[in-house]
Amino acid sequence: MKTGAVICGLGAALPSRVLTNKDLEQIVDTSDEWITQRTGIKERRIVSPGESNSKLAVEAAKKALARANISPYELDLIIVATFTPDYLMPATAVLVQDQIGAKNAGAFDLAATCSGFIYALSVADQFIRADRSRKILVIGSEVLSHKVNWEDRTTCVLFGDGAGAAVLTGSTNDQRGILSTHLHADGSLWHLLTVKGCGSLYPPCGDELPREEYYIKMQGREVFKHAVRAMEIVAREALDRNNCSPEDLALVVPHQANIRIIEALRERLGLPSEKVFVNLHKYGNTSAASIPLALVEAEEEGRLKSGDLVLLVAFGGGFTWASALLRW
Ligand code: ACO
Repeated sequence: MKTGAVICGLGAALPSRVLTNKDLEQIVDTSDEWITQRTGIKERRIVSPGESNSKLAVEAAKKALARANISPYELDLIIVATFTPDYLMPATAVLVQDQIGAKNAGAFDLAATCSGFIYALSVADQFIRADRSRKILVIGSEVLSHKVNWEDRTTCVLFGDGAGAAVLTGSTNDQRGILSTHLHADGSLWHLLTVKGCGSLYPPCGDELPREEYYIKMQGREVFKHAVRAMEIVAREALDRNNCSPEDLALVVPHQANIRIIEALRERLGLPSEKVFVNLHKYGNTSAASIPLALVEAEEEGRLKSGDLVLLVAFGGGFTWASALLRW
């Protein structure tokens, strides 16, 4: 198994404001019991005025660079995975580039919704394997609270804000790093999960589109079914590619959307609970930020040890889905 890029520093940033299920009971017709049973979420973080996607991304980036002991000047590339950027132009990645002082880095955003972080890791891995870049900052950062319809109880209880960052370098050790990444999409199902307004087809001040189409709309049951099936298939794809089986895994870090999706994946792979990382009770679905936020906490809890085989797997709007197998 030849390895590519290695993650040498992780960092997280979360807004300080906590929105609990009890708080949501005051906003829409819902209950802590319904949200907990159907999703596993207990609370989520929400930005306050003055906080933004780029500010969260910068904070996460600075922590990851400090952990990696790498100066911003050394970065060749910055990729921010997000579908909730500060602006349509410029990209959030260039705001990060400026604010951390990464004078030598190229910078762009990547939009693949909840699979965005793994998509960005995959791009970074290809740059490093091709010797085009040596040090890359990959960030998943979202402010979903501004894209949520706070009158729609079927979606507003699910999402939260946050950012996670990873610094990648070339592996000097064949035993450590990204073994393979696997990216998929099915655009024929795009209509099941959308934010239609504010793009160039339906500009912000137009009156063609109903107000709710400017926010996240989802056919939850359909998304659920596809997510479970696709995440199992892409997880097995990564294992098969590397001649591994689920028993070889030390930890699976899945996209944190719904505890029932994560449980279904765990059962299908035949894994015990302790091999699947879960923190969605604290943050809800933070889309592209969910996997790096989970990686940061898994590392802090001592659940990522050198030599461990770690599987990342995600599913999101588009649909997109992806996996990455890493030797930690
Ligand atoms: N509180 C109380 N009742 C609710 C709520 C709520 N917050 N939301 C929905 N309900 C009601 C519905 O109105 C419905 O009532 P009815 O039976 O009287 O019609 C009932 O609860 C059941 O609704 P369902 O939608 O069938 O509930 P389900 O068990 O499917 O759970 C959920 C909904 C949590 C959204 C689930 O379908 C899900 O997690 N889907 C996948 C989400 C996901 O994975 N997203 C990943 C991608 S996200 C991205 O890319 C940005």
